[in-house]
Amino acid sequence: MEKNKSGIIPTAKDLSSQIAKNFLMGVPAVRRWRLRRPRTSIATEDINQFLATYAFSGLGHLLEHTGDLRGKTVCEIGPGDFLTSGLSILAAGADRYAVIDRFAGDYFGESAKRWYALIEENWASFYPDIPWDSSLDSSKFPEDYRNRLELIGDPIETAVTSQKYDIVCSFQVGEHVSSLDKFAEIHQRILKPEGVGLHRVDFSAHDVWSHYHDPGTFLRFPEFIWNLTGSNRGVPNRYRHHEFLEAFERAHLGVEILAIDYTDPDKVDFNKLNKRFRSMPKESVLAESAIYRLKRRPS
Ligand SMILES: C[S@@+](CC[C@H](N)C(=O)[O-])C[C@H]1O[C@@H](n2cnc3c(N)ncnc32)[C@H](O)[C@@H]1O
Repeated sequence: MEKNKSGIIPTAKDLSSQIAKNFLMGVPAVRRWRLRRPRTSIATEDINQFLATYAFSGLGHLLEHTGDLRGKTVCEIGPGDFLTSGLSILAAGADRYAVIDRFAGDYFGESAKRWYALIEENWASFYPDIPWDSSLDSSKFPEDYRNRLELIGDPIETAVTSQKYDIVCSFQVGEHVSSLDKFAEIHQRILKPEGVGLHRVDFSAHDVWSHYHDPGTFLRFPEFIWNLTGSNRGVPNRYRHHEFLEAFERAHLGVEILAIDYTDPDKVDFNKLNKRFRSMPKESVLAESAIYRLKRRPS
């Protein structure tokens, strides 16, 4: 019997609780309540860890892989609850920041404001070499900076921006979108011809499935069962690395794989995977995370 770290928990038990959660998210009142609750509240045990994960991690990837942000326009897909990465991207010198998120967070609320203040307070210790943009005052963010922001509460499938951007990025979002083709195609719509796409995709098991000794447990279920656990929630789409590459190719995007991590193959029982995954290249199934840099190719 499959075990998780805390003892014997049969897969069936986790499967039924995931299906129940999904069912509840289909009830409009529960859904409204859940979406109003921020997913990232500030736990005070380790502010630096929280800032590193929720405020500065996207900026870190951008600085490393797209370079200096001064004067750039940046569009981020799926930043999460607050404009934490947006404020830090502007603070690092970007001219303009756009958000595309199908579940727009409460960007103007009190919890958001606490984050923005913490970002400014702690900026110098994270980025001693990048001066905080002196025209930005976190206590007046975001309301006083509407001319530098574009907030779009739509899914990528339909989102339209008012202008094209130098950088289109996302972090831990590609594994949640329903269509990889739409995810890839959006670059032709909103990225400048010479612009850069930067995306980190987390292919690993999420939620209860990350507690299993075999990290491939969540790939054992047929698609219709998996959909029962997540049709109303943002569970991973289970698309694998090579499927992203194929979608980028179909959308006429040149791709560089800047980083890729793999799950330990000895931990994955391939014979138990659903046949869809058994028929895929093993290396692609085992990819745990990847960072892609994209360029538009003339279509
Ligand atoms: C796992 S969260 C990642 C949040 C943040 N980027 C981070 O790394 O912590 C995924 C985000 O993508 C958004 N999202 C998922 N599917 C989307 C879609 N089709 N279009 C736009 N946003 C989407 C969700 O609403 C959520 O904010």
